[in-house]
Amino acid sequence: MRRPYVIMNAAMTLDGKIATREGDSRISCPEDLDRLHRLRAEVDAIMVGAGTVLSDDPSLTVRRARGRNPLRVVVDGKARIPPTARVLDGSSRTLVVVSGRAPKRRVEELRRRGAEVMRGGEKEVDLPLLLEELGRRGVRKVLLEGGSTLNWNMLSLGLVDEVRVAVSPRIVGGERAKTLVGGRGFGKVREGIELELKGVSKVGRDLLLLYRVKSSGRV
Ligand SMILES: NC(=O)c1ccc[n+]([C@@H]2O[C@H](COP(=O)([O-])OP(=O)(O)OC[C@H]3O[C@@H](n4cnc5c(N)ncnc54)[C@H](OP(=O)(O)O)[C@@H]3O)[C@@H](O)[C@H]2O)c1
Repeated sequence: MRRPYVIMNAAMTLDGKIATREGDSRISCPEDLDRLHRLRAEVDAIMVGAGTVLSDDPSLTVRRARGRNPLRVVVDGKARIPPTARVLDGSSRTLVVVSGRAPKRRVEELRRRGAEVMRGGEKEVDLPLLLEELGRRGVRKVLLEGGSTLNWNMLSLGLVDEVRVAVSPRIVGGERAKTLVGGRGFGKVREGIELELKGVSKVGRDLLLLYRVKSSGRV
C-alpha cells in the first residue's frame, strides 16, 4: 500500500519563525488564509501535532472556501489535548493518534468527545505506521500543518513530498520562537533535506514558495 502524498504547509516570517516567542502564530495575510482553506478542501486529511492544538487551538475545517472538511488527525502521544479543543467540536471527524504513554482516563475522555482514538506507537507516535494506516483507510493526500517538531520528524523520516511556505514580510526574532522545522536538526548543510524550487508567487502581501522534496536528508 502506497503511503498518502504529503504536503507540508506553513506561514513563516522572513526570519523563519512560525510563531512569536509568545506563541502568536497569526502570520498569514487574508489572501494566504484563503489559499490555505482552498488547499484544505483538496486533501483527505489534515495532520497536526499536539503542540499546535495546545497553543493555537485550530479548528482545521474549511471555512474560507467551498468544499468538504477533511479528516482531522492529531498526533498526540500522551493524549494531552483538552476535551474543549476545537478539533473535538464535532464539525468533522477527528482521529487522535496516541502512544503507549497516553493515560487511559484521557483516552476515554477524548472518546467521549466523539474522537476516534488510535494507538500508534509505544513511546511516541510511529509516523510511518500512521501514514500506512491512513493509506489503508483511503486517504490519498495529507496536509501537514505543523508544528515545528512534527515537521522535523515527518521531513527527516522522508514522509513529506512537497513543502509550501508563505513568507510574511515580518521579522519577529526570538531565540525561543518556533521555527519552520525544529527537532534535532542536521550537523552539516550537505546532510540536510534537499528541495527543488517549483514555484514562486505573490499571495497578498506574502511570498509563496513551492518546493518538491528531493531527499529526506541523513540524520
Ligand atoms: N505558522 C504556521 O504555519 C504554524 C502552523 C502550525 C503550528 N505553528 C506553531 O508551531 C508551534 C507548535 O509546534 P511544536 O513543535 O511545539 O508542536 P507540534 O509539532 O505541533 O507537536 C509536537 C508534539 O506532538 C507529539 N508527538 C507525538 N509523537 C510525535 C512524533 N512522532 N513526532 C512529532 N511529534 C509527536 C509530541 O507531544 P507528546 O510527547 O505529548 O506526544 C510533540 O511534543 C506553535 O507555536 C504553533 O503556533 C505555526
